[in-house]
Amino acid sequence: MPEITKAPKPNPAEQRPAEQPIAEQGPREASAPSSRAPQPRALVKRMREYHPPLGSRTGLRLDFNENTLACSPRVLAALAGIAAADLTRYPERASVERTVAASLGLDAEQVLLTNGVDEAIHVLWQTFLDPGDELLMPTPTYAMYEVYGSAAGASLKALPPEDDFRFPFERLLGAICEKTRLIAIANPNSPTGSAATRKQILAICERAPHAAVFIDEAYFHFFGETVLDLIGTVPNLIVARTFSKAYGLAGLRLGMLAAAEETQHWLRTVISPYSVNSLALACLPAALDDRAYLDWYAGEVKAARAEMAARFLQLGLPQWPSVANFILVRIGQRHAAFVEALRRRGILTRDRSQDAGCEGCVRITVGTRAQTSQALDAIEETLREIGWEKER
Ligand SMILES: Cc1ncc(COP(=O)(O)O)c(C=O)c1O
Repeated sequence: MPEITKAPKPNPAEQRPAEQPIAEQGPREASAPSSRAPQPRALVKRMREYHPPLGSRTGLRLDFNENTLACSPRVLAALAGIAAADLTRYPERASVERTVAASLGLDAEQVLLTNGVDEAIHVLWQTFLDPGDELLMPTPTYAMYEVYGSAAGASLKALPPEDDFRFPFERLLGAICEKTRLIAIANPNSPTGSAATRKQILAICERAPHAAVFIDEAYFHFFGETVLDLIGTVPNLIVARTFSKAYGLAGLRLGMLAAAEETQHWLRTVISPYSVNSLALACLPAALDDRAYLDWYAGEVKAARAEMAARFLQLGLPQWPSVANFILVRIGQRHAAFVEALRRRGILTRDRSQDAGCEGCVRITVGTRAQTSQALDAIEETLREIGWEKER
């Protein structure tokens, strides 16, 4: 990896104070008009609606860290083989769970398929968090951890970022207490692209034997390191994988939770038995079968990521080293103009300025080498167009 231009310090004013219960973070804008409709729980009224900018996404989609090209053609063939009568039956996931477990070297009892990792998070949070229980996590991170934490009435201990967005290992260890019920770590993390080491994850599991330690490996295929093999030996470890990223199946909604058999029993007590639909179940074995396609796509992204980091370095654009399929850059004050001007050129990126420590930052998904080279030319032109200058 080329030497990375050192990015300026995160702005402390942007950071959420650590160790603040979600319910005590002050009033939030009331999102629903008053009406005679039944009123939700008080804590739901205090929540902000999470509303990702999904509308009108035409162009090169470098905004949601999806696969930017396509899924394996074998998946399309599996879809084409579905008959009308197949849709009349409720989906049955046990046999596909066995296939997934075998492909990952796990026992079938250790694997739960979910409707995307989002459902995995929801079910896990519902299973482990009572109101007031502590959910500990570094920030910035994936938004749904907080959403489901708020809905459960949990107390959020959100660790503000380090200057360089490195995984805050020592502070996280120090923040574990007897109230900690769940620790959520995206590894690699979004939007920063940084990762915790296996040794650090093991130390966290050991320090918090009373808590569930959730390791979200959504971006595993662009990183290559995993703790999945520790399922079965580390009792409080729970690992998620998604089929939305490298596999290119975000539209099918498929995720996987690996955990000790006993934990799976509790998760299965909470989850809907039908939440993974039969189209997704029919496609998953085909996706797993096409290892060559997966390896090709991940290889493209890793090569393109190195090219992107090198170009940003050349341009003097502050960035953070990433082991995922995106790079976070700091544009500075003109971040919104940058995103908008790039959109006009047909390239979508994600403004992350609202995230803790990310003032002026934009996250750019890495696709194939050809797409990235096109995007980099457009990014360079856009920086000139908006009059971007290196911050000193
Ligand atoms: C860290 C992380 N976990 C989970 C997800 C969502 O995964 P899924 O599409 O399987 O719900 C995302 C999506 O961006 C993510 O960044």
